[in-house]
Amino acid sequence: MQSTVIAPSILSANFARLGEEVDNVLAAGADWVHFDVMDNHYVPNLTIGPLVCEALRKHGVTAPIDVHLMVEPVDRIIPDFASAGASMISFHPEASRHVHRSIQLIKGAGCQAGLVLNPATPVEVLDYVLEDLDMVLLMSVNPGFGGQSFIPSALEKLRAVRAMIDARAPHVRLEIDGGVKVDNIAGIAAAGADTFVAGSAIFNAGDYADVIGRMKAAVAGVR
Ligand code: DX5
Ligand code: ZN
Repeated sequence: MQSTVIAPSILSANFARLGEEVDNVLAAGADWVHFDVMDNHYVPNLTIGPLVCEALRKHGVTAPIDVHLMVEPVDRIIPDFASAGASMISFHPEASRHVHRSIQLIKGAGCQAGLVLNPATPVEVLDYVLEDLDMVLLMSVNPGFGGQSFIPSALEKLRAVRAMIDARAPHVRLEIDGGVKVDNIAGIAAAGADTFVAGSAIFNAGDYADVIGRMKAAVAGVR
């Protein structure tokens, strides 16, 4: 079984003091940094790119940086994020002409590879690539914005992908992203997630350690 990972999404951090925010959330018990990249094309919002990833590394961040690409096209930007210090790079199959090639590009650049399924994306997209992946990321909101509500059908999808991973590729992590809160994380863990992105639930709280601690305790109760 994969260890539990809490990955705060810095989308909801205070960007005017990003380095300090990342230091604080890691000191508060976060395991990874979830880094949302949006292009105002694949998704209707615009955020941060490789320069900011590199700046966090230069600031001294050593924790894994989990880059979630919501950009189209995908392949052009992969080497830039690998050079900028990304640990894992995940992308949406709808944004890549050649999903298998993009996975190989990520791995060839020395990063772990993840595939992201939107709420309406069928799990069959995993059929011929699951074994090649390091992570499957299920969106429980439509990508583009923090602070949206968890879409309940993601639980059924988690159970389906958990069964695929257990049967075929137990090395693969199962990450959930969108609307994860202290009060729903236990159900999400019970449905099969091992890696939990949370943006607004953590960064909008006064005490990061308190929220992360309660999330970890809730997950520990079911896995
Ligand atoms: C949405 C992003 C998420 C988002 C999560 O497109 O991929 O990572 O920041 O934010 P919350 O936890 O607030 O739903
Ligand atoms: Zn994300």
